[in-house]
This record gives sequence, C-alpha cells and structure tokens, in this order.
Amino acid sequence: MRELRLRVVKASRDDAPLLENLLALYAYDFSEMLALEISADGSYVPDGWSWSAEDHVWLLYVDDRPAGFAVATRGSLIDGRPDVWDMREFFILRRHRRAGAGLHLARAVWEQLPGVWDVRVIEPNVAALGFWRRAVADAAGRAVAPTLAVNTRNGKSERVFRFEPSSPSRPDG
Ligand SMILES: CC(C)(COP(=O)(O)OP(=O)(O)OC[C@H]1O[C@@H](n2cnc3c(N)ncnc32)[C@H](O)[C@@H]1OP(=O)(O)O)[C@@H](O)C(=O)NCCC(=O)NCCS
Repeated sequence: MRELRLRVVKASRDDAPLLENLLALYAYDFSEMLALEISADGSYVPDGWSWSAEDHVWLLYVDDRPAGFAVATRGSLIDGRPDVWDMREFFILRRHRRAGAGLHLARAVWEQLPGVWDVRVIEPNVAALGFWRRAVADAAGRAVAPTLAVNTRNGKSERVFRFEPSSPSRPDG
C-alpha cells in the first residue's frame, strides 16, 4: 500500500459547503449504478441524504486535503432497532482508493461509536461489497456474511453486514 498521511476529523456545520462538494462527487460515482441525473446547472445532487441533527459526520484528510467522508446515524433502516448504528454514507476520493484510506476512516468511526452496526450496500455496488467484507472482518475479528434485506426507507433490497466491532480495532493486517 502507498503511505498516506491520514487525518480523520469530526465535521461541524462550518464544514457543510465542503461536505456538499464531496457529496456531489459521491453522487456522481453512484450515477453509474443508479439512474441519477445531472442537474440543469451541471452538478450532481445526492439522492436521499441531507445533514440532520442526529447525523455524525467525519471528514478524512490526506496530506491536509479533503479525501473522503463518513456519515453515521443511530437507528437501523432494516429492522428499526433504535440502538443500532447505521453507516449512512461513506466515500473516498478516487485518487486515494486502494491505499487503505477507507479502512482507516471506517476504523476511526467504529472506535468513536461503539456498539452494533449495520453497513448496507446496494446491489450493484460490487466494489463496496468487497471493501466492506474486508473492513467488517477486520473490525469484528471474523468474517461476517452479508444478508439480503429490505431497506424500510426506500423498499429496496440491500446487502447488510450486521456486526459489532471488537474493541480495540485491529491494526493494519
Ligand atoms: C468502497 C470505497 C469506500 C473503498 O475505499 P478505499 O479507500 O479504496 O478502500 P481501501 O483501500 O481501504 O481497501 C481495503 C481493502 O478493501 C477491499 N477493497 C477495496 N476496494 C475494493 C474493490 N473495488 N473491489 C474489491 N475489494 C476492494 C480490498 O481487500 C482492499 O485491500 P487491498 O487494496 O489491499 O486489496 C471506495 O471505493 C469508494 O468511496 N467508493 C464509492 C462510494 C461507495 O461505494 N461507498 C460505499 C457505499 S456502501
């Protein structure tokens, strides 16, 4: 793996414009898998999520430049369990992929919010499925098989990893 200088920061409302720009890139990535249309002004707007008071948002920096983000919210979208953390959104800039940045960000989030987690992956997102298999196995200390379940918010089938990270998270393996 390339050596990256990584920093994870809990976002504040002042970071909203930065997050909005990253969300547009995230939406553009998803436009390949979902039928997301570009706006009339030439931007991509995410379909679904907008920052609410219950959301925990982190920004990832590589060499002090924005490189990704994660959003987590309490409450399962699968079975309604109120105590379960849901990984709502997760993104690493293309330039920094396959260098361990995603693993670093996921570990930082799980360390800060201990408990049971749902990580949901839409059917066509094969890359994310490969990533989460690895990240979840590292965190749980065992392989976790995703189940096929219905997202109660949009009625769509998703692959869901439900697991509890073992504490503390394992170092890079
Ligand atoms: C999925 C995503 C977050 C992965 O981030 P990343 O920083 O590239 O992941 P890492 O470098 O930490 O990958 C760690 C391991 O996960 C697995 N992995 C990562 N990307 C993978 C891919 N495209 N296909 C298969 N396995 C993959 C590999 O085991 C990898 O280790 P390796 O590179 O030594 O083989 C990134 O591709 C992304 O932002 N995609 C677009 C948004 C998205 O799909 N978000 C997830 C929504 S559920």
